[in-house]
Amino acid sequence: MASSIDIAAMREAQRARGPATILAIGTATPPNFVYQADYPDFYFRITESEHMVDLKEKFKRICMYLMLLLYKLIHPYKSAGDKSTVRKRHMHLTEEYLKENPNIYKYGAPSLDSRQEELVVEVPKLGKEAAVKAIGEWGEPKSKITHLIFGTTSGVNMPGADFQLVKLLGLHPSVKRFIMYQQGCFAGATALRLAKDLAENNKGARVLVVCSEISTVTFSGPSYTHLDALVGQALFGDGAAALVVGSDPDLTTERPLFEIVSAAQMILPDSEGAICGRLREAGLVFHLLKDVPEIISMNIEKALTEAFSPLGIADWNSVFWVAHPGGPVILDELEHKLGLKEEKMRATRHVLSEYGNMSSVSVLFVLDEMRNKSAENGAATTGEGLDWGVLLGFGPGMTVETLVLHSLPTTVPIATRL
Ligand code: COA
Repeated sequence: MASSIDIAAMREAQRARGPATILAIGTATPPNFVYQADYPDFYFRITESEHMVDLKEKFKRICMYLMLLLYKLIHPYKSAGDKSTVRKRHMHLTEEYLKENPNIYKYGAPSLDSRQEELVVEVPKLGKEAAVKAIGEWGEPKSKITHLIFGTTSGVNMPGADFQLVKLLGLHPSVKRFIMYQQGCFAGATALRLAKDLAENNKGARVLVVCSEISTVTFSGPSYTHLDALVGQALFGDGAAALVVGSDPDLTTERPLFEIVSAAQMILPDSEGAICGRLREAGLVFHLLKDVPEIISMNIEKALTEAFSPLGIADWNSVFWVAHPGGPVILDELEHKLGLKEEKMRATRHVLSEYGNMSSVSVLFVLDEMRNKSAENGAATTGEGLDWGVLLGFGPGMTVETLVLHSLPTTVPIATRL
């Protein structure tokens, strides 16, 4: 017997009409922070590595490059100005904790259990802080959250950080959860790509996106056999960010910030092993090749062209930039390759300067900085007055995520949008 059910109509009714829209952003960091200028002394003292004099000098050089002191000489095509690199980073890990857990800093010592114990508790807790702020800004009851996406490279458990966060926030048990473990630095963008699909394909969906990273997972003392780890020790910081994403916002109560117009992911050619992490008894052992900045800059124009050709945009200075602050040389190479004006990376460089590289979380901080500064400066839109923008994530694989964003007016209060 033929079914009288019209599946096409049912499917149509299940889907939203408009594009996924970012409705709120919240961020959080651990209270403890370190100044980059003090860090080499602290790091070599606390890891009992003062005898590695030449390694400490090298580490100082890396931290110094990260702080820009010689930067202008190394990269003459860059202007110094406020092109700050890393000034400070927030870190959950404290001197007291390291003293109680010496295996964390002894290079190669079995320490996964101790790291895990700390991270599976603290990562969702930090995520909660950001989520509470995002939900507060959104202004709707948390019972309206339908989906949760959680991203972290810091600690793995079963059930995971997504489950813990539902409990910590008191979300409804029917919230549909997704956890993304071990994706690394591009995962903030991946979470937004997934949120877009969920919001647009589920009418009324309100997706809570949370990324939370605590670098205790990769912390270790220095080693002559693992020099690339020093870059991570000088660069990584901790933080969490949360966003509420949904289509067809109710303009009487919701205040849309950006529309997510398209989202794409790409594995870069000939980049295998350039950034990778191995989960070992010693924690997440991180590897980073020196040519990461070059690999990214060589391939980025292709990703941008594919993303923006449907809009007829080929001038990369005509869009606002929300890029993952992977490291200062990556940003320099991107600017150089694409002929970007210095101000394009302002938000990204600000986040790098004040927080370091917080892996998946960083790009979401940059998005927050973008909309905050746009409003503060009286720009017409959340994207520094421009209509279109790019959100770029990159990390292990190597993988690049390219999202096209559409900004929205900064100044229109909820009531006048009726
Ligand atoms: N592996 C091992 N050593 C490295 C290294 C790597 N991946 N990257 C830099 N170094 C060492 C250099 O050998 C050099 O040591 P030396 O002073 O003893 O010669 C020192 O670090 C400084 O490097 P240098 O090339 O002189 O400076 P730089 O202009 O490249 O600045 C960074 C250093 C770390 C700021 C820069 O390389 C950077 O931004 N890298 C990107 C970081 C990254 O890949 N992040 C990805 C996360 S998504």
